[in-house]
Amino acid sequence: MKLADNKATMSFSNGAPSVDLPVYQGSVGPDVIDIRKLYAQTGMFTYDPGFLSTASCQSAITYIDGDKGELLYRGYPIEQLAVNCDFMETCHLLLYGNLPNEAGKAEFTKRVSNHTMVNEQMQFFLRGFRRDAHPMAIMTGLVGALSAFYHDSTDINNPEHREISAIRLIAKMPTLVAMAYKYSAGQPYMYPKNNLSYAGNFMHMMFATPCEDYVVNPVIERALDRIFILHADHEQNASTSTVRLCGSSGTNPFAAIAAGVACLWGPSHGGANEACLNMLEDIQKMGGVAKVGEFMNQVKDKNSGVKLMGFGHRVYKNYDPRAKLMQETCKEVLTALGLENDPLFKLAMALEKIALEDDYFVQRKLYPNVDFYSGIVQRAIGIPVSLFTAIFSLARTVGWIAQLNEMIGDPEYKIGRPRQLFTGSVKRDVLPIAQR
Ligand code: SDX
Repeated sequence: MKLADNKATMSFSNGAPSVDLPVYQGSVGPDVIDIRKLYAQTGMFTYDPGFLSTASCQSAITYIDGDKGELLYRGYPIEQLAVNCDFMETCHLLLYGNLPNEAGKAEFTKRVSNHTMVNEQMQFFLRGFRRDAHPMAIMTGLVGALSAFYHDSTDINNPEHREISAIRLIAKMPTLVAMAYKYSAGQPYMYPKNNLSYAGNFMHMMFATPCEDYVVNPVIERALDRIFILHADHEQNASTSTVRLCGSSGTNPFAAIAAGVACLWGPSHGGANEACLNMLEDIQKMGGVAKVGEFMNQVKDKNSGVKLMGFGHRVYKNYDPRAKLMQETCKEVLTALGLENDPLFKLAMALEKIALEDDYFVQRKLYPNVDFYSGIVQRAIGIPVSLFTAIFSLARTVGWIAQLNEMIGDPEYKIGRPRQLFTGSVKRDVLPIAQR
């Protein structure tokens, strides 16, 4: 970042001395006012719950222009990456800042493939869960538990430890998600097959059984790979900020990523894809497209607590570019599977059309986000609804790690420790219980 020729002057109506604050510029996007010295100079904090106007860090990984509906990974538009690259190339780009050539891609892919197995002891963690445990409960436990097996790479300040942990986490997440699924289905785990692609291997671990050969459907393989690309990173969203804050204490990478998994689970964040599919199925049961108007009235009634899941975004005040690409992937997969008349897809399209023409949504700039269509395509592939967010966490692991490593690699980083505006009781004395 570079010092702008502009500066901010904060003055106070009570006559307190004004304060000059430096303004910094990035390569694109809003400038920032550096308030790091504000407390020392004024004895005051800034106040921004929910971080509506706060940049928590500088980063060179992902850029979002919410007004244009633009998403760049290391400068490359998501629309180009989704069409011209695969998830392994995207992982290389997010981690190292460049798209690999053929040799670099082959080498990176081989390194990931060689780390896809998990320690045999990991299967015994799953036995502690009921078979109907939510996959995100299992994933939160399993990812944190990985740190118990890699004492050779838990020093987050060691670049070599960060590198091998990144490869291990990217490689093992599909294995863990597939194990969570097989456990819930009461089926035997399928070991990774290193001769398959990243997405193909995940499909094999999910849908193959020891009883017969499994052939990867290339249309679904490509669709899953694209779903992974679309979910790989997204600037300083809630789970990425969680990973950064957790990692800033110096904890190991596995623990920091486990914190990200836990945060992503929430229905306002990564859990929205599961919530959106359940919403569509509920409307379908109510009567489908004919009941959309009634449902929308509920959404617009503040007291109902009903939201149009998969709609709205803190940053995008235009169409989420990932939602457009996800809708295209939906059409491709449904057509390939002969499901082009899927009622839920038609219902989602009808909901979108009505919402985009409704003043409530237009005024609030609410558009479909990445979660609106992702559930429909995953359901068509045969993935259970409860596994959608676990798959989101699988794909977002590379983004979390890239952001964590960028923070730890920044010599200026400090442990994150926000302050507060205190509104509780001022000091008072404890009375003996007889006088309370
Ligand atoms: C992800 O941050 C990221 O980058 C996240 C993510 C990523 O890749 O990491 O993109 C992934 O989490 C996508 C978002 C998934 N969540 C959902 O689809 C859940 C439904 N959406 C909302 O809960 C909401 O839109 C949020 C949480 C996504 C954003 O909330 P904000 O920015 O805090 O906005 P807000 O709640 O203040 O909403 C502004 C207004 C409010 O109405 P008013 O008080 O102004 O009258 O819009 C309304 C909200 O009630 N509103 C909605 C709505 N979303 C916002 N009303 C109905 N349905 C919705 N979905």
